Amino acid sequence: MKKFIAINSKIKNYYKIINVDGDKSISIRSLIFASMASGKSKIQNLLESEDVLNTINCLKVLGVKIKKKNKSYQVNGLGINNFNYKKNLILNAGNSGTLARLILSTLIKSPFKIKLIGDQSLSKRDFDRVIKPLSQFGCKFFPPKKTTLPLMIKKNYDVKKNMFYEKKGSAQVKSAIMLAALQFKSSTNIVAKKSRNHTENFFKFLKIPIKIKQTKNYDYINVRGVNKIRSFKYKIPSDISSSLFFLALTILNKNSQITIRNVNINDTRTGAIKILKRMGIKFIFKNIKYYNGEKISDITVNSPKNIMPINCPKKFNSSAIDEFLILFLIASKANGTSYFKGLEELNNKESPRLKIGSNFLTMIGVKNYCTKDSIKIVGNPSLKLNGNYIMKNFLKDHRVFMMSTIAALTLGGNWKIFDPKSSETSFPSFLNLIKKVGGKYIYN
Ligand code: S3P
Repeated sequence: MKKFIAINSKIKNYYKIINVDGDKSISIRSLIFASMASGKSKIQNLLESEDVLNTINCLKVLGVKIKKKNKSYQVNGLGINNFNYKKNLILNAGNSGTLARLILSTLIKSPFKIKLIGDQSLSKRDFDRVIKPLSQFGCKFFPPKKTTLPLMIKKNYDVKKNMFYEKKGSAQVKSAIMLAALQFKSSTNIVAKKSRNHTENFFKFLKIPIKIKQTKNYDYINVRGVNKIRSFKYKIPSDISSSLFFLALTILNKNSQITIRNVNINDTRTGAIKILKRMGIKFIFKNIKYYNGEKISDITVNSPKNIMPINCPKKFNSSAIDEFLILFLIASKANGTSYFKGLEELNNKESPRLKIGSNFLTMIGVKNYCTKDSIKIVGNPSLKLNGNYIMKNFLKDHRVFMMSTIAALTLGGNWKIFDPKSSETSFPSFLNLIKKVGGKYIYN
């Protein structure tokens, strides 16, 4: 097994056009909806990453037939609540919080206990956030009072609540409630702090009754269940969170330009772009298209002369939630001190990202002040590294690995970055694309 990559030289300037892999959130959702649909769905450009392959495996354990044919995935949907429930089924969600939390919501009516397990990182994460609302839909979790994986789920009683509050701004929790509600005819109301809206877009696309009233910070969502969902065709756009690593590489490099094609720039996902615009970075959007509620565009960015610091408004947190590690890295080259706040959720991700981000900056000599939910970063536009740096023990968090790679290629120094396979969790083409734009690394 390859243990680490070594990087000993900065990337040269480049002028490139690339395609990044498919959107992870939409890939997982498309498979789940297709499994609950009646008949054969076809999904193109599905992200073939660990999280998504685990989704396919879990659905196969539940009896869904999924196969790849001519680059597209064909899913033979079994209908709503019609999985092949059996005794002693075990589903392995691997590293994926989204898969784990969403799949539980499809199992609330299982007559048998189904066990859900995950890897070391996922087994540390909080499941109380879905146990509480899903229990209101009449299912029960075992062992009682346990709030981490492994957990078992089984149907318990027949009534359900019709009012839910989601106050964390978690799309996973909101989506779990919506997918559970879909299995009941009576209407369900959810007051949800704003978060990515791909599940809502799928409801509209598949004509599942949904009403949404938007206010500044909260969405008031009303959904009603149906007997049947139609099968569908879907072409997955590229992932903005994966794109951000290459936008950041270009922002931190000199005299370079990158264009990334067909990226999903859904407004609920582009917090990092809005933050970077306020830091003085200019983006060019071309070939804008609308697709089943999503907005797709080519994005171009040039290396800037100057990066401005930011006092980052909390309102961007949810729509930039997966991008903060890379934003912290960019802030360390700003010409002043940046401040990011209201970020307690970051420590609940694949690794405690706020703490790990702060330790990383300290390791590379960037002054920062970190609390349990905020970080101040003292930027230095002439930041250059020439020491030896080892990045390991980050719970194989894919985004920590990719952020470290971008730092090594743009700041200098001699690096060993462990767990390169972690990038396959969300972005299997990452290291090949790094090579394509001219980044040099040795795979050890
Ligand atoms: C996701 C929601 C976010 C995000 C995760 C994907 C989704 O998590 O961090 O990578 O697809 O719904 P939370 O909902 O827990 O904030």
